[in-house]
Amino acid sequence: MLSDPETMRFYPAAYDRAGVENWIARNLRRYADDGHGLWAMILKATGELIGDCGLTVQDVDGSNEIEIGYHVRRDLWGQGLATEAARACRDYGFARLPVEHLISLIRPENLSSRRVAEKNGMTIWKEVTRQNLPHLVCAIRRDRWQPKEKAVEKPPL
Ligand SMILES: CC(C)(COP(=O)(O)OP(=O)(O)OC[C@H]1O[C@@H](n2cnc3c(N)ncnc32)[C@H](O)[C@@H]1OP(=O)(O)O)[C@@H](O)C(=O)NCCC(=O)NCCS
Repeated sequence: MLSDPETMRFYPAAYDRAGVENWIARNLRRYADDGHGLWAMILKATGELIGDCGLTVQDVDGSNEIEIGYHVRRDLWGQGLATEAARACRDYGFARLPVEHLISLIRPENLSSRRVAEKNGMTIWKEVTRQNLPHLVCAIRRDRWQPKEKAVEKPPL
């Protein structure tokens, strides 16, 4: 997935084998240091590894933000899998971490990722440059968060 040029077209380059090994090592370090990172996305029906999604610490304009990131295996795009995983990470992040908002950093031309962020309740907060490329900082504030459990508990209007 991380070596697939189509999947990685909004990144500076697809990863070679060493790049993937570094990516795995980086996320193992995040699990140990932060208690979270990009996790394996597993298709419940088959148990297959089909992507990653999770929470990573990102420096944005000098402050540490928690980002929800996602990659899905290309043959499974468009089935709502990234949205399901991103919403689960959002609910986990707000439930477990003392943060006032969660973000996703997205290249403006990455329309499918922008749509996932939108379905995850995010709106565009600001634009920043990372790795010399413009990125949207999409964000959801805690007070706009409606976890599934809360929504179910709400009395009818
Ligand atoms: C972004 C990505 C994770 C989305 O995964 P996915 O499982 O296909 O996402 P979902 O099915 O949950 O939602 C995708 C949405 O984008 C929409 N979409 C797809 N292509 C689009 C396009 N060109 N323009 C506008 N919307 C688009 C889909 O219609 C869907 O929205 P809908 O439910 O309203 O129809 C996947 O495309 C991917 O792995 N891309 C490469 C890695 C990447 O860019 N990751 C994000 C880095 S910021």
